[in-house]
Amino acid sequence: MMMKLIPCLIALLFIHSIVAKISITQVHVDLPYIYENQLPLAQQTHEMVKVDNIVLISQLSNSVFVKVQVNEHGFAEEVAGFQIANPNANLHGLANSTCYPGWVWLTLEADNKLVLIDPKVKSVTEAPEVIKIIKVPQPGSGPHYIGEYGENLWVSLKESYQVLRINHENPNDYNIYEGVKHPIFVAQHPINRMFYSSEDDSSRIMKINPGNNITTQIDIDPSAGTTPVGMISGPKGIWFTLLGSDKAGTGTFGFIDRDDNIVYHKLKSPLGKDAALLHLKFDVNYEINHKLYLLSSSIINPNALDMVIRVTFYKDWKKIKDEEVFLIPTQQCKAHRLLPTGHNLFVTGLTTSKLITLINF
Ligand SMILES: *[C@@H]1O[C@H](CO)[C@@H](O)[C@H](O)[C@H]1NC(C)=O
Ligand SMILES: *[C@@H]1O[C@H](CO)[C@@H](O)[C@H](O)[C@H]1NC(C)=O
Repeated sequence: MMMKLIPCLIALLFIHSIVAKISITQVHVDLPYIYENQLPLAQQTHEMVKVDNIVLISQLSNSVFVKVQVNEHGFAEEVAGFQIANPNANLHGLANSTCYPGWVWLTLEADNKLVLIDPKVKSVTEAPEVIKIIKVPQPGSGPHYIGEYGENLWVSLKESYQVLRINHENPNDYNIYEGVKHPIFVAQHPINRMFYSSEDDSSRIMKINPGNNITTQIDIDPSAGTTPVGMISGPKGIWFTLLGSDKAGTGTFGFIDRDDNIVYHKLKSPLGKDAALLHLKFDVNYEINHKLYLLSSSIINPNALDMVIRVTFYKDWKKIKDEEVFLIPTQQCKAHRLLPTGHNLFVTGLTTSKLITLINF
C-alpha cells in the first residue's frame, strides 16, 4: 500500500510545483458592440452627416434622403425617408454647412445640381426644405463629393473628370479644373492650403492651386498600391486610402506633406494587410488619442472583407503604434462611409441598407 502511495505523492507535489509557476491574471478587454440599424430598402446607401441627434443619409439608387433619429449609442429610434427630386436624380454627396449651421449641402449627381437644404432636424418626419439650388456650370457633369470652404463649394465632377470651385453666394464666380478619370473626393491641405482630389481609375491625385489656377497630377507609386479614393484633410497634411483592384486590396493608405512628399503606410495585421481601403476619418479627439479609422470594403472586389480598422499612431503621426480590425457583421455589404461622433462610429452598408453603429469604440 505504502509503496504505491509514495510515488503518487511525489507526482502530486511535482504537478503542484509546476502549476504554481503559471500565473493567471485578467487581461484588459475593450470590446466594441456592433449593431446594424435597418434603413428603408435601396440598392445603394451612400453618404452620412449628423446634425443634432439625426443622422442624414443619401440613398443614391432611388434618390431618397433618409433621416434617422439616434440615441447616444447610435441606435435608430425613428426613421423616415424623403424622395429628393425624382428617383433618377441620384442624390449622392452630403456635407454640413458652416455658413448656415444646421443646414446641409447635397449633390444630385444625375441632375447636375447642388442643393442647400434645411433638414428640419427637430422632427424626423418633417420634410426637408430646399433653400438654394445651384446648377453645375457647363461642361461639368456628375457632382459627387461636395464640401463647403467659406464662401466656396468644392465639388468633384465624376462624369466629366473635373473639379469645380463655385462661390455659393455668387455662382457666376467659379472655376472648372480639368482632371482625369474620376475625381472622387476633394480636400484642402491644412498647411499649404492647396486642394487635392483623388482620381480613382487613373491612380493619380490632382493638386489645384486656387491662387493661380494651375493644376498638377501626382502619380501613386504602383509598388505601394492603386486606386486612391477616400481623401481627407488631417494632421499635418492630406490623408488618403488606396482601394486596390477588383482582385486584391493592398492594406495601404497615404499621407501628403506640405511639399507633396507622399508617405505610404502599410497595415500589417493578418486581416489588415490585404484590406481594400475605401474611406477614412480621424477620431473627433484625434489630437489626444491619435486614432484614425479606415474602412475596408467589398465595393469593387467581392472577396475583400468589409471591416473597420482602428489605427493608433505615435504622436508625431509618422508611425503606426497599433492596428485593430473589426469585421462588419454582414459581409458583402460594400461598406461605404465612416462617421465618428465621439460616442460611437457609424458606417453605411451600401448594398444592405444598413446604418451600422460601433459602440464603446
Ligand atoms: C460639420 O462641419 C464641421 C465643419 O465643416 C465639422 O467640423 C463637423 O465635424 C461636421 N460634423 C459632421 C457630423 O459632419
Ligand atoms: C483664377 O480663376 C479665377 C476665376 O476664374 C480668376 O478670377 C482668377 O483671375 C484666376 N487667376 C489667375 C492667376 O489666372
